[in-house]
Amino acid sequence: MALRKDKHNQSVRGSRIAIAIVIGVFLGCVFAFLYPNGLFSSATSDLPPRNRKVSKITSQVDSSCDSSEKINMLKSDIMQLSEKNDELKKQVRELNEKLRLAAVGKGHAEEQVVALSEPHKAGPFGTVKALRTSPTVLPDESVNPRLAKILEKVAVRKEVIVALANSNVKDMLEVWFTSIKKVGIPNFLVVALDDAIVEFCESNDIPVYKRDPDKYVDSIGKSGGNHAVSGLKFRILREFLQLGYSVLLSDVDIVYLQNPFDHFHKDSDVESMSDGHDNATAYGYNDVFDEPAMGWARYAHTMRIWVYNSGFFFIRPTIPAIELLDRVADRLSKQPKSWDQAVFNEELFFPSHPGYVGLHAAKRTLDIYLFMNSKVLFKTVRQDAALKKLKPVIVHVNYHPDKLSRMRAVVDFYVNGKQDALEPFPVGSDW
Ligand SMILES: *[C@@H]1O[C@H](CO)[C@@H](O)[C@H](O)[C@H]1NC(C)=O
Repeated sequence: MALRKDKHNQSVRGSRIAIAIVIGVFLGCVFAFLYPNGLFSSATSDLPPRNRKVSKITSQVDSSCDSSEKINMLKSDIMQLSEKNDELKKQVRELNEKLRLAAVGKGHAEEQVVALSEPHKAGPFGTVKALRTSPTVLPDESVNPRLAKILEKVAVRKEVIVALANSNVKDMLEVWFTSIKKVGIPNFLVVALDDAIVEFCESNDIPVYKRDPDKYVDSIGKSGGNHAVSGLKFRILREFLQLGYSVLLSDVDIVYLQNPFDHFHKDSDVESMSDGHDNATAYGYNDVFDEPAMGWARYAHTMRIWVYNSGFFFIRPTIPAIELLDRVADRLSKQPKSWDQAVFNEELFFPSHPGYVGLHAAKRTLDIYLFMNSKVLFKTVRQDAALKKLKPVIVHVNYHPDKLSRMRAVVDFYVNGKQDALEPFPVGSDW
């Protein structure tokens, strides 16, 4: 800039310009040689249209090593382009961040896209996988705005533990929520079936929800025995799923020792604990039926699996899951004497056959040593030094009528470290 003002220094100026031009030309040639595809090609290689301009400029450098005017033009072009380059880099960074975020939710979503998109050829042997993770439904707040508000506060990652309780189970409920609080699980909700339970929960600072008056629900909820209340829950649960929440339906004769949400696979419509007492009974086995009169064909193979426990299952807000709830609730209302757990299992497992369209829900049996029933605990685990050291996620005292005392023993054994707490109890009940 100073040179422009100083006329005496014109000759100096001229030679400086000449030097600058020589350096510029030299650099231009060097860059043209080193980066024949353009200076910025690596950063913008995935953005062809803009890159083309840069390449054009650098090819101009090739053909104009002798032109000083063009060099100045090129310099300002390069300035502009490097600004654009920075901008592009920023855009690439943003795109990468978006890709990363998308990848987080990938997993099952990818499966869904593959399975729901255009028909495509099967891949090579061993690479094909059917869809087992159904997409979740669009949440519908209008179903129950009051419950939606409660769940917004209580749920974590759209997941919540739900238990139904009336005053008959108040003592167990206390052991239940005390164990949940002790583990530090914040997302649980008691569906109170009478006012005493509402008060009990409120006085203990336990999240509680009471349904709006409903003749059907109220008559069963207040006076109902165990099985009648069980039928109710399928109707009540539906709203939770419609609101877009995954629910861990939990009986209250359960002690929590770890956060169960860390142990679900979340790949199925239903993940349930089993009433089975070993791997075979819980996960399925080949049960051979022997009929000697058939001679050569005396052995008939049958597939067996012990029932899922309908008092502890994790259910995702999917169409098959909601259909399951509807089918069970419908059958229970038409056959009031049936046992909800049997109906739950039949709907889950029986295939379509003449006159019947089966439910096609994805199901997963939970690990029997992590989601432990009281038969596994009292028959096997407490006798086995290695299994005794494992810490279950929950223990469900479903196999024993003296529930409260066994729940307390489970707390003593696993939480308070009383090594002999489980010993006084017989394997089964006395009658
Ligand atoms: C039961 O299954 C688990 C997990 O699949 C396995 O680790 C264990 O060895 C099995 N136990 C027996 C007795 O087969």
